Amino acid sequence: MDTFLEQFSEPADDSWTFPGHLSTNHLTHGYHRYPAKFVPLLVQKLIEEYTNKNDKIVDIFAGCGTTLVESKIHGRESIGVDVNPVAQLITKAKITPISPEKLTTSNLIIFDQIKEFNFSELYFSTKHERIDYWFRFEEKNKIAYLQRIIQLVDDDDLRIFYSCALSNILKTCSKWLQSSTKPQIDPKRNEDIPDPFEKFIIQVKRMTKKNLEFYEHLVEKEYLFTKCEIHNADARNTGIEENSIGAIITSPPYVTSYEYADIHQLTGYWFDFIKEISSFRKDFIGTFYSKNENKDVEPPIAKNIVSQLEEKSDKYAREIAKYFNDMFDVSKEMFRILKPGGTACLVIGNTKLKGVEITSAQAFMEMFLLSGFEMSKVIKRQITRKLIPTIRDKDTGKFTTLGDENKQEVYPEEYIIIAKKKYGFS
Ligand SMILES: C[S@@+](CC[C@H](N)C(=O)[O-])C[C@H]1O[C@@H](n2cnc3c(N)ncnc32)[C@H](O)[C@@H]1O
Repeated sequence: MDTFLEQFSEPADDSWTFPGHLSTNHLTHGYHRYPAKFVPLLVQKLIEEYTNKNDKIVDIFAGCGTTLVESKIHGRESIGVDVNPVAQLITKAKITPISPEKLTTSNLIIFDQIKEFNFSELYFSTKHERIDYWFRFEEKNKIAYLQRIIQLVDDDDLRIFYSCALSNILKTCSKWLQSSTKPQIDPKRNEDIPDPFEKFIIQVKRMTKKNLEFYEHLVEKEYLFTKCEIHNADARNTGIEENSIGAIITSPPYVTSYEYADIHQLTGYWFDFIKEISSFRKDFIGTFYSKNENKDVEPPIAKNIVSQLEEKSDKYAREIAKYFNDMFDVSKEMFRILKPGGTACLVIGNTKLKGVEITSAQAFMEMFLLSGFEMSKVIKRQITRKLIPTIRDKDTGKFTTLGDENKQEVYPEEYIIIAKKKYGFS
């Protein structure tokens, strides 16, 4: 264990930084914004170095499906798991290549139907009060019309493709402060909200080009039918068969970083994923709303972090304890589903809260060992381009984008923990 703890203080490995290769939006990767999504090149390198051709790859925190898209273009079967139905919708669209001819024909029909919109007709019927909070009537009525057209599309793949396109324009067409990832009304945003039809058409055309790129790549490599699935499930209990997976490539929610349930609420309300936000939040790991009371944590590194936090803030201590206990369950689940000889690659950064170093990477490494894994390697990498907040307010601990004396950098680098399930274990 000590040998591996020492690796955390070694300099960052430049071969994992990918300077000059910053595209995160090629192929279907660019379908939809998503906070803290993987750099595709990082996943590509992990696939190339730590998986074999016949390995089935799992991402148990699949997010918008970067691992799955990369697995498919490398001809590896894959399964993604995410508790967020919005992640499932986006990923499903991104891993589903559509015949370019079929898509182009369908687009023409959809664009024609948009022209039939009647300004004096009411398409929007009361859905959720939060939609009324976020949208003006004009945009609501047009979005409702788009949703109606999409729901009439018979073909599942096309319907998901258009639903993903619609989901990605919701923020732009709402009163949400555009520069903020977190939900916040822009009081100045009233007259300059873009037209949902224009935005939708642009988005569909953009995605159509990306689908073509993806489709042609898969045809050329003969990976069009490589299996790839996304499940709306919990990383602590994935439902995946035990000893069945060759490799796990994943990145968990960073502690108290993003409230995914809140960030994705526009799609959540429009697509009826959310009835009531507090019950929707409850299965997300890393949320600050868990109302957890139990501060007992078993793995020693995590336990030590919680007891240091206890002196600063009882609420923080309880929330971080819950995070570590959840992640310990995740580590056991990862061990259960991996085949003997299988590899787990987990990407995570450390941070500071209330002046306490939250060394999640070291804590997870210890959890891996306690779950039965054998450590292979710890890689430190500099974060170049990942949609992740880098400034935290020293007092409140909340992420912010402004820099002044009271702010501090977090996650300037992150770690890739590589562990193996030894042969003879099952
Ligand atoms: C850091 S993001 C993963 C981003 C992903 N690597 C990508 O490229 O898009 C973490 C993800 O964990 C998901 N998540 C949170 N709690 C979860 C749980 N209990 N089970 C499964 N997924 C969960 C969130 O919805 C979020 O999509």
